[in-house]
Amino acid sequence: MENKDLKKIYEKAYKKGENKHFTNLIEGLHSEEREILNATQWKGKKVLDVGCGTGLFVHEAAKRGAFVIGLDYVPQAIEIAKRTHKHPNIEFRCEDIHKTINKYKGRKFDVVVSVGTVEHLDKPFAMLKLFKQIVKPRGEIIFTCPNWINPRGLILQTMRYLFDAPITLADLHYFSPRIFERWAAKNKLQLRWKTFDTSWGAGDMLLRDLKRRLPNVLRDMGLKNDRGIKNFLKWLKDEALQVPWTGKYVGVNTLYHVKKK
Ligand SMILES: C[S@@+](CC[C@H](N)C(=O)[O-])C[C@H]1O[C@@H](n2cnc3c(N)ncnc32)[C@H](O)[C@@H]1O
Repeated sequence: MENKDLKKIYEKAYKKGENKHFTNLIEGLHSEEREILNATQWKGKKVLDVGCGTGLFVHEAAKRGAFVIGLDYVPQAIEIAKRTHKHPNIEFRCEDIHKTINKYKGRKFDVVVSVGTVEHLDKPFAMLKLFKQIVKPRGEIIFTCPNWINPRGLILQTMRYLFDAPITLADLHYFSPRIFERWAAKNKLQLRWKTFDTSWGAGDMLLRDLKRRLPNVLRDMGLKNDRGIKNFLKWLKDEALQVPWTGKYVGVNTLYHVKKK
């Protein structure tokens, strides 16, 4: 599957209502946006949000004084964004970043943001290199991606590697912080990262996620096993998740904050 193939999935999601379509079990409301908003100052900054969806982050950054271009390749998402987030500092554009990134060369943004989108691109590291070219010296690239090095990740990645299980609807890549650390070191970039949504990685939210996800995954594989799932979830709840899962990697999402030196 390639990025262009995902467009149909997103179109369906935005037509249906994204909260109904995607598993929306995030701890608190919009934790990814909150983490990014807290990562830097926004007042007066020129910002590009790549894969802005229906524009929630764009609006929050604009309310904090940033001038924001939000782009997404799904027309339904941009229509909703324009309708629901009106602000003088905002411009929404319907564009495929793979096709338009070069036109932003020379624009020199203070910050390029991408919320839950980098793992859906064809060549994320090539794209991040281009992001680096469109931010000013000492500019910032701030993005979020799922982290798979935690109990949730180990369960789902085992299914994916051993049985080709379709564990997500639209992820093309399954990253963890170590790969971005190597990338930043190679490209002489300063990187800070933190994981968040820990209950989803190893707590109650994980149980809720798997209760909804596993029947769909097994159904798509032609391996319906409701009793097996029920017993597995019981074991997770009563045994595996009773021990303290802590540490830097437990969160299911990762905030990456890259600064140009
Ligand atoms: C998981 S959604 C995240 C949406 C939004 N950032 C949020 O957090 O609610 C990924 C978004 O990236 C968009 N997207 C994926 N590939 C894209 C591309 N090549 N160009 C522009 N947008 C893209 C999708 O349409 C979708 O809205």
